[in-house]
Amino acid sequence: MDNPVGIFDSGVGGLTVMQEIIKQLPYENLIYFGDTARVPYGPRPLEEVRGFVFEIINYLVEREVKLVVVACNTATAAGLIEAQAHFDVPVVGVIEPSARGAVQATRDRRVGVIGTVGTINSGAYSKAIRALDAGVTVYSAHCPKFVEIVEKGMISDANFLRPKTYNLAKTYLTPLLRVEIDSLILGCTHYPLLKG
Ligand code: DGL
Repeated sequence: MDNPVGIFDSGVGGLTVMQEIIKQLPYENLIYFGDTARVPYGPRPLEEVRGFVFEIINYLVEREVKLVVVACNTATAAGLIEAQAHFDVPVVGVIEPSARGAVQATRDRRVGVIGTVGTINSGAYSKAIRALDAGVTVYSAHCPKFVEIVEKGMISDANFLRPKTYNLAKTYLTPLLRVEIDSLILGCTHYPLLKG
């Protein structure tokens, strides 16, 4: 309780993380920052996103947060380590916990990861998974248009019946199915809203 926990993302995606935090820590005060002025982060250079990470954490620290949750995979890949080294307040990200979940879930040690261009190209997921279990093979794909769909609010179940959306998902995911992954990391906090 007492001081708030600060949570941020490029937009609405981090609300999926906040929802879980509310479930597990219902009595905490929370501040959510959605950087909708600059969404999407995915296509931007990691250095630029790192700058946003520092700006937003400064903003949250001014509001006396006791902990910062980087509820964005792209921001985690771009600046978590640097932010942890720079700020006195504890800063946690989303990549390592998801990697741990996938390593526990996979039976055949074939894990798929989908995320933004920034997250996937950073190699942060492969690195995190291999650090936990070097025997896991990681197959990744970026799905940039998914963030657009979520930010536009096109997330009702009916949306998935639209051939256009269905075909987009098929294009992104078929290569991962072909290589027979048995677990898939939704490596962008916007994606759980498209789980259906
Ligand atoms: N929700 C974010 C993530 O987890 C970023 C999406 C974006 O802004 O491109 O990567």
